[in-house]
Amino acid sequence: MTSDNIRKQFLDFFQSKGHLIVPSAPIVLKDDPTLMFNNSGMAQFKEYFLGNAVPKAARIADSQKCLRVSGKHNDLEEVGIDTYHHTMFEMLGNWSFGDYFKKEAIQWAWELLTEVYKIDKDILYVTVFEGSEEDNVPFDQESWDIWKELISEDRILLGNKKDNFWEMGEQGPCGPCSEIHVDIRSAEEKAIVSGKDLVNADHPHVVEIWNNVFMEFNRKANGSLEKLPAQHVDTGMGFERLCMVLQNVKSNYDTDVFTPLINQITKITGATYTIVAKDDEEEKVNIAIRVIADHVRAVAFAIADGQLPGNGGAGYVIRRILRRAIRYGFTFLNTKEAFIYKLVETLSTQMGGSFPEIRTQKDLVANVIREEETSFLRTLDQGLQLLEKVIKESDNKMVDGRKAFELYDTFGFPIDLTALILRERGLDLDEAGFAAAMQEQKTRSRSASEISTTDWTILDDSKSEEFVGYDVDQQAVKITRFRKVDSKKDGALYQIVLNKTPFYPEGGGQVGDKGTLFTPNQAIEIFDTKKENNLIMHFAKELPENVEGKFMALVNTNLRAEAAKNHTATHLMHQALRLFLGTHVEQKGSLVSPDYLRFDFSHFAKLSTEEIEQVENFVNLKIQEQLPLIERRNVPFAQAVEEGAMALFGEKYGDTVRAIKFGDSMELCGGIHVKNTSDIWHFKIISEGAVAAGIRRIEAITGEAVKNYFADQESTLAAIKESLKNPQDTIKAVAQLQDENAKLKKQVEALQRDKVKGLKAEMAAEFQEKNGIRYLAKEVDLDASAAKDLAYELGNLGTNIFIVFATQDQGKPMLTCYVSKELVASSDINAGKVVRELGKFIQGGGGGQPFFATAGGKNPAGIAEALSNVANFIA
Ligand code: ALA
Repeated sequence: MTSDNIRKQFLDFFQSKGHLIVPSAPIVLKDDPTLMFNNSGMAQFKEYFLGNAVPKAARIADSQKCLRVSGKHNDLEEVGIDTYHHTMFEMLGNWSFGDYFKKEAIQWAWELLTEVYKIDKDILYVTVFEGSEEDNVPFDQESWDIWKELISEDRILLGNKKDNFWEMGEQGPCGPCSEIHVDIRSAEEKAIVSGKDLVNADHPHVVEIWNNVFMEFNRKANGSLEKLPAQHVDTGMGFERLCMVLQNVKSNYDTDVFTPLINQITKITGATYTIVAKDDEEEKVNIAIRVIADHVRAVAFAIADGQLPGNGGAGYVIRRILRRAIRYGFTFLNTKEAFIYKLVETLSTQMGGSFPEIRTQKDLVANVIREEETSFLRTLDQGLQLLEKVIKESDNKMVDGRKAFELYDTFGFPIDLTALILRERGLDLDEAGFAAAMQEQKTRSRSASEISTTDWTILDDSKSEEFVGYDVDQQAVKITRFRKVDSKKDGALYQIVLNKTPFYPEGGGQVGDKGTLFTPNQAIEIFDTKKENNLIMHFAKELPENVEGKFMALVNTNLRAEAAKNHTATHLMHQALRLFLGTHVEQKGSLVSPDYLRFDFSHFAKLSTEEIEQVENFVNLKIQEQLPLIERRNVPFAQAVEEGAMALFGEKYGDTVRAIKFGDSMELCGGIHVKNTSDIWHFKIISEGAVAAGIRRIEAITGEAVKNYFADQESTLAAIKESLKNPQDTIKAVAQLQDENAKLKKQVEALQRDKVKGLKAEMAAEFQEKNGIRYLAKEVDLDASAAKDLAYELGNLGTNIFIVFATQDQGKPMLTCYVSKELVASSDINAGKVVRELGKFIQGGGGGQPFFATAGGKNPAGIAEALSNVANFIA
């Protein structure tokens, strides 16, 4: 049975049980400060469990792309080492939102596994929650009783809080769970140790395949549990593990989810993948191949969903995963050139049917990966050179752990590679020192990002919050709930939720509104607005005295108007880019603030000046055309797309959407826009550049900012004119100045050369002699390059010559040292050493070669002393 079939049977089965089948949510989560990536099937439904949103069906099923590489659920270090953990994996899930509960969930799970997939009942074990005194949750008798009807009791095991009580994060919906495990070992193995003893014991062939969670509680900030308003079912089955069982193999990597990738890797690298490794060397190659096959999936899908590798947040996690793969290739498969990007084609052929985003974006994904690979391979190379230096500088067999940490931290140079190289050279790594440095850094970064929140104080339990900001910018409101947040970054603040709000929460690139909450005797400043779990949260530094009073919520309309201009201009620019550059242009990131707009998009080349002008002219024309905003809310998604509205990859859209139209530009968008394009006043691109391979970034301004920009340009020009004494033609005047400057430079050089000739004759007579060495130590009134010429000219006059000149340039002293080649060979006078030591007198340093070196410094008063020490070098 192919993996495609296995996925389909799951979805068909739950459809036949009345479930709505939905597509996977994007793997990268936007607008959720508590989670970077989708780490389980239920993440996209968590608002339903909390009761903050109404589910679109009471029964839903899907296959969700998941990534467990950060936060509470993090498997990264296991991946590749074992054969059943992954960074990206698919989680098959079925959900009941306040509908069916334990009985149906368990019965259907059993029916699907044993009757549809026909898994032998004798290789299955199930677990049931034993209860927890600490949380005051009893043993799950109900599940036990349901299972008892389906499976013999000696195959039902009890599990503790760690294994059988599922929680999404530190806070949020949770509940007891019942897991299904499978034992695929041989009969001989089973005869020695019973599968019962291996459940939850990290055995590669006795693994959990399905988790049925019975969501009943909400974990509060203070650690206590409260009952949820309704009971729900949340299940997750590991798709790759299920494929392993049904395809009768012993490793996820031997299923058709991975074999096409593995074949391609071995084809490109010439390495061999062995199902069972015969020694450590073979196993290392196997691990590397698994790491690469696994990681390319995570990285490719994250990029397709709009997350580029970067230096912070989710981007950094993706970069680290890719670097781990590159590094394993580099060390164990001997790949010194980019090759992982070539696997994207294979992935797209294989997964494109179920996940079209990987097919339509495969070129972009491959480009981005290739660029990352190339640049990290260079870093690896640099790192190797630096490591050489560290090795040279270390006095004993043990290499300083802090130095290794520096390599790791600054250059991303992996520690296990450092250790490996050191071992090969017969050296040891001070691992304790490394671990200590790592720990210090972790503590530093954790305390910088630490956030703690209190539980919500609920004043009014009506959870829905009406957004009225498309129609009004002020509104009479009441507070429904609030909580206090302590963040190391922003200090103490309050998050306030209102029954109705005109404040736009950050989203779709547009920053959140600012404004004020007024009471008759108090004005509370709202400094930001964000959405989390479907709640619009207003950020304030203080709470009103009477939180239960009535308020007037007022949006800062000046800021909002400027942001709206930039948002509409973003749509028009997007249209222009697709028109002039081509429809391969897709939005890859967007920031819309009152000050400016930033837009990232896929395109392979730098924009020419003409292209930039074309885009500017197009947008400005649309502004002149005075196009009115045509806004439609609640259009069915399919209809809007049919009509030509642009939808973005990696965005999560509802069944009905808001369509924003200005002339021929139509986008699905939740943001705030101008009423008429003429409100934008003018549009100006201020920069264009690359952010990654195949991704360009434009920054542009509109409205007031353009006025300020032009005013700035004008005053700069006025200042230039004035300093040129107001010429008729400024451009000509600058050109003249440049010409003159070039001529003068040439003249100065010629004069210096003449001066060198004159000085040569003069100084040839000033040499002193000691121990057969002719030497000269003198301050000369030349620039550095002329001093060098003079030293060489004098040096050519004879043998055993040693010269030190001091020069000054705008108060900065400099030493120039020349030593005849034969003198370098016959004595220990070394120009590099001379300038290093004499440099101390002028508070400076430098270096060069043994026969010529220079040192710059800060203290011209030290010149005399430096020169008076020259003779000391002739011992
Ligand atoms: N949410 C549950 C899990 O991820 C099903 O295991």
